[in-house]
Amino acid sequence: MSQSYETLLLSTDELGICTLTINRPDKMNALNNQVFEELDAALTHIIENDAIKGLIVTGAGDKAFVAGADISELNTLKEEEAVTLSLRGQRVFQKLEDLTIPAIAAVNGYALGGGCELAMACHIRIASSNALLGLPEVSLGLIPGYGGTQRLPLQVGKAKALELTLSGRFVKADEAQNIGLVNQVAENSALEASYDLMKAMMKQGPLALKNVLLATKEAGKDSGYESEANLFGDLYNTADFKEGTTAFLEKRKPTFTGK
Ligand code: COA
Repeated sequence: MSQSYETLLLSTDELGICTLTINRPDKMNALNNQVFEELDAALTHIIENDAIKGLIVTGAGDKAFVAGADISELNTLKEEEAVTLSLRGQRVFQKLEDLTIPAIAAVNGYALGGGCELAMACHIRIASSNALLGLPEVSLGLIPGYGGTQRLPLQVGKAKALELTLSGRFVKADEAQNIGLVNQVAENSALEASYDLMKAMMKQGPLALKNVLLATKEAGKDSGYESEANLFGDLYNTADFKEGTTAFLEKRKPTFTGK
């Protein structure tokens, strides 16, 4: 199955793993208006398509994941337009974070500004050894506008987030892993390592994956433990729960149907 976009490549394999590639390699995959519109549409397609069970987001070429918002579009905006642009970016990235299938960012090079924010909106990040991540907006006289000031502190703690956001400093892959910004640094390709991890997830019960994502969204909220109990209980009505526990007792591998 494939969809056609001008700035994205989207393809889904037989396991239901969809790879979404931001495809403006001559502009370091910078996020312009068209990318955002197409990303929004692609996420709707992914949400509505039950055959898609996992998402990997990456950038075209071997230099950049995404080198940020398209600066040529940023510098002509007026205040109100800038607020609208920020709100749209936040909404589209929230739509990505709210997916109820796993989303992994294969960070294959520069992930700067909006690119780092895009990676942080994915549930998991795997970096190539040449990856460089950062929020350099202050160097443009701006602040991150697509959720970066909110998500980075959750990833790395407030003090480290402020250090990076106030200095605009880039971190290499190893440091990004040490501070918890990326989950792992791939020995070879970030895309391959992301695919391997996603394949392991695809063997699990899809409804359980969904409920892990829903429950984890509530982490840190007052309602978190209650949500976890309800989402745990929900699964008792599913065929996947019966299959998973029966297969264990029968010493065989489960065959999940997502029902
Ligand atoms: N917006 C628009 N265009 C961008 C871009 C961005 N965020 N990042 C890179 N590009 C474009 C460059 O303008 C250049 O286009 P051109 O060939 O038409 O001149 C092309 O991508 C290649 O980039 P270049 O700067 O020549 O590559 P490099 O290897 O020397 O440097 C970067 C790579 C990523 C370090 C550098 O492009 C950069 O600093 N980009 C901006 C990063 C940033 O501030 N992002 C936050 C934005 S909010």
